[in-house]
Amino acid sequence: EKRGFPNYMLKEIHEQPQALRALIGDCLIKDEGDVLLEGLGLDDEALRSFDRLCLVACGSSWHAALIGKYLIEEQCRIPVDVEIASEFRYRNPIISETTLVIPISQSGETADTLAALREVKGRNRRVVSICNVIDSSIARESDGIIHTHAGLEIGVASTKAFTNQVVALYLLAIRLGRATGTISRNRGLEMIADLTELPDLVEKTLKLDFNAEEIACEHLTACDAIYLGRGICYPVALEGALKLKEISYVHADGYPAGEMKHGPIALIDRDMLVFVLAPRDRHLAKVRSNMEEVVTRGGRVIALCSEGDEETGKKAEFTLSIPWAGETLSPLLFNVALQLLAYNFAILKGKDVDQPRNLAKSVTVE
Ligand code: F6R
Repeated sequence: EKRGFPNYMLKEIHEQPQALRALIGDCLIKDEGDVLLEGLGLDDEALRSFDRLCLVACGSSWHAALIGKYLIEEQCRIPVDVEIASEFRYRNPIISETTLVIPISQSGETADTLAALREVKGRNRRVVSICNVIDSSIARESDGIIHTHAGLEIGVASTKAFTNQVVALYLLAIRLGRATGTISRNRGLEMIADLTELPDLVEKTLKLDFNAEEIACEHLTACDAIYLGRGICYPVALEGALKLKEISYVHADGYPAGEMKHGPIALIDRDMLVFVLAPRDRHLAKVRSNMEEVVTRGGRVIALCSEGDEETGKKAEFTLSIPWAGETLSPLLFNVALQLLAYNFAILKGKDVDQPRNLAKSVTVE
């Protein structure tokens, strides 16, 4: 069942290219720069009637939602709220008729996300879910669905399901932007072209020789780690930190790099491991100066940079070169590298990556 892999987590990490191909499959309408999302159950006119999206989720799915906010607001110029389901459901949330609510869940059974969905449905509001299990409660009770097609995910830590959630949001952005006119045919064609290359680039990222094992070995005694990113890489920093803490039990937090000065920088010393996400996007100069600040204070930096950028990581202890997939999709490749790093830490520490202590794959009780 594990097809030669030592555990499900590594198998599922390596299944990402095929999971992506399954999702993208034949939903691309290449000549139109558009996508077909039949399960949505919303035509162009219905899509145009919304002036706000509200994404609701827990854990990694919440991180996917945060990435979705960056990408949908940028491409579609529509405000996107991102809510943690356990907070949203108890807040008597304000949801107007023109808000489209989108629960995101791998399992489709997460108690808080399901309760949030029921709360919204109870008020006669429209709900379209992004879900990996087609016959789950969340999928069944929604008005429409984008099925993430990641296949069965057994490892407790979300890997391929997370990647496909982000791409489902990318597909939704294209559809919404084409329906409302904020994405032109040409822009749609470009977005689809970038997306079409993504599975191969994930494959390439998986094959890179990252020294992941050496990095983990070198820092095996580290008790704390910080992940820094800006823009769309901020939620990737959160996801990287969650992956490390849940499978290797190393305390880790993600921060927007610009928040360092407002507190977390006090933590920096020789014992602090700092992962810096530094793709060659519009934020690079700022991220580089954040990295300098960490190095100056003795922090041990592991820099993730874009392929071809020889400068940024010069002062880091280790530099990983990540392929370029455009500003919007590159973060997914950075995330794949962070999955491999977290995996290697956990394995070298002798942890059970498929069944981390105290965690369940599907959180069906609060
Ligand atoms: C982390 C992880 C969890 C889930 C969360 C939501 O790796 O897997 O944080 O993302 O429990 O689960 P779903 O997506 O099934 O609603």
